[in-house]
Amino acid sequence: MGMRTTGTGGKASGERFFKDFARGSSKKSDKSSSKTSGKTSGRASNKTSNERSGKGAGASSGQTVERRPASSAAPRERAGERAARERPGDRVVIERKPPRRDEPAPVRFAAKGPGNPTPPRVPRQRRAFSTVGGPVETAGDAAESGALARLWDVDPGLARALTHGFHAYAGRLHPSIARGALTRWSAAGDTVVDPFCGSGTVLTEAMGLGRVAIGNDASPLGVAIAQARTTLLGEAHRELLVSEARRIAELAGEEARKRRRPELPSWAGPEFQRFFPHVAFELFTLRELVMEVPRQPVGNALRLCFSANLVKLMKAGPEAPRDGEAKRIARGVPSRLLGDRAVELATGLAALERRTPPGTPPPVVRVGDARELKGIAAGAARLIVSSPPYPGTYDYAAQHDVRFTWLELPRRSFESAQLGARTATTGLGADPATWRASQRQWLSEMARILMPGGHALLIVGDGVLGNQPEDAPATIAEQAAPLGLEPIARASQARATHDRRLREIFKGHPRQEHLLLLRRA
Ligand SMILES: C[S@@+](CC[C@H](N)C(=O)[O-])C[C@H]1O[C@@H](n2cnc3c(N)ncnc32)[C@H](O)[C@@H]1O
Repeated sequence: MGMRTTGTGGKASGERFFKDFARGSSKKSDKSSSKTSGKTSGRASNKTSNERSGKGAGASSGQTVERRPASSAAPRERAGERAARERPGDRVVIERKPPRRDEPAPVRFAAKGPGNPTPPRVPRQRRAFSTVGGPVETAGDAAESGALARLWDVDPGLARALTHGFHAYAGRLHPSIARGALTRWSAAGDTVVDPFCGSGTVLTEAMGLGRVAIGNDASPLGVAIAQARTTLLGEAHRELLVSEARRIAELAGEEARKRRRPELPSWAGPEFQRFFPHVAFELFTLRELVMEVPRQPVGNALRLCFSANLVKLMKAGPEAPRDGEAKRIARGVPSRLLGDRAVELATGLAALERRTPPGTPPPVVRVGDARELKGIAAGAARLIVSSPPYPGTYDYAAQHDVRFTWLELPRRSFESAQLGARTATTGLGADPATWRASQRQWLSEMARILMPGGHALLIVGDGVLGNQPEDAPATIAEQAAPLGLEPIARASQARATHDRRLREIFKGHPRQEHLLLLRRA
């Protein structure tokens, strides 16, 4: 494998290295990417802000959502025809038109009141980091920090490659960083682990490179997406996925056009605040049909195709597109989008199958806490590539509430396991003592599962602890070294801070996103 021994010139020993690892004593090189038009980030485009910013969820899921006036709208097509014609990456058109005089105004539900319960209030999510390129600051071993710096120069063409664009996920890693890291610090056949795998970006890339991939995440939603993205299905079942999606889309679209109402589940009430009524009714019909499909071999994938479209169709709620209230979504559109999404997933899976070397096992992905990686043997991993949550940045449970609800996934257990969430009670920052104790636990698990000489590449960002800015490399280096994880190098890029209160907190401190390389002693 491509494991490298770092010379002592760059060896991270003792206090001096900790100072190097922290800010201010490292060299800077301008790694602004020409390929990315100045827009790079460790995390792939921030799905949720895209979804809110009028680009719509499609921007984060392999599709561009374009709004155009009714006069230029294409004639309505049947779901199956459109799905057959479109390829992933094609634009999905959601019509946005001014209400016509002869059309009844859309029904608006009162904000509150008995029989019309309000979904739980969550604070608007902070943007993780703005996606900007810019100078890269490096420290530690020269060769390794140079390699890390090059990872920031992301290949934008990979953002939607394979199954990467299929389902939005907050804080998704840029696939280009995962691919670069896997290529440099592991070889075919090596075991690679991502203890915070989220939607499975590292696992997808690892599989494509013939690594034995293991993923873990506390979020059942993240794990379900990761499984859908890495279960190849095989040609016959990919065709079945598309034909089932089209069959369901035709049925549900027809029901919607005839204005037939489905039976509603017990939790349906608040959903009429998130969606316009005609959209909610169509989604309930779709959901019922999707849930009837057995989980194996294609039911799981179909459920995730359904989930992938939900946010784009929302009118209100913290995850909703900013222009959700202004959008006009025609009857039949939610159904058609299901067909489109199935085609997109099937196409991505076919590409992943072509890329994956024969004999590569499918990744093992499970719901679990990174502080206790059950079932992964000591010394099993050659490489860890992982992006843990940034403190006080996201609440992954609230962020994906609509998906947890519609897929009926257990949200509570995830809420209690997720680390560093920015919630209504924690306010801007995570609790420092709890955060550090948890960090020590997951670093110690990483140390346990890595083989001697194995590497961990962590993608981390400076968050907020208490009311103070966090210096992520310094705290990680401080905690990792006594556990036998030697800090080798880092490459950091500044990130803008849009929130006024955060600007106050970070006054005088650069806020950065970092690639940190650690090596198991
Ligand atoms: C930055 S995201 C990872 C995104 C992932 N790299 C991707 O590309 O989709 C951080 C992840 O940490 C997970 N997480 C939070 N607390 C956790 C815990 N205690 N154990 C395992 N995963 C946890 C969240 O559910 C989230 O998926």
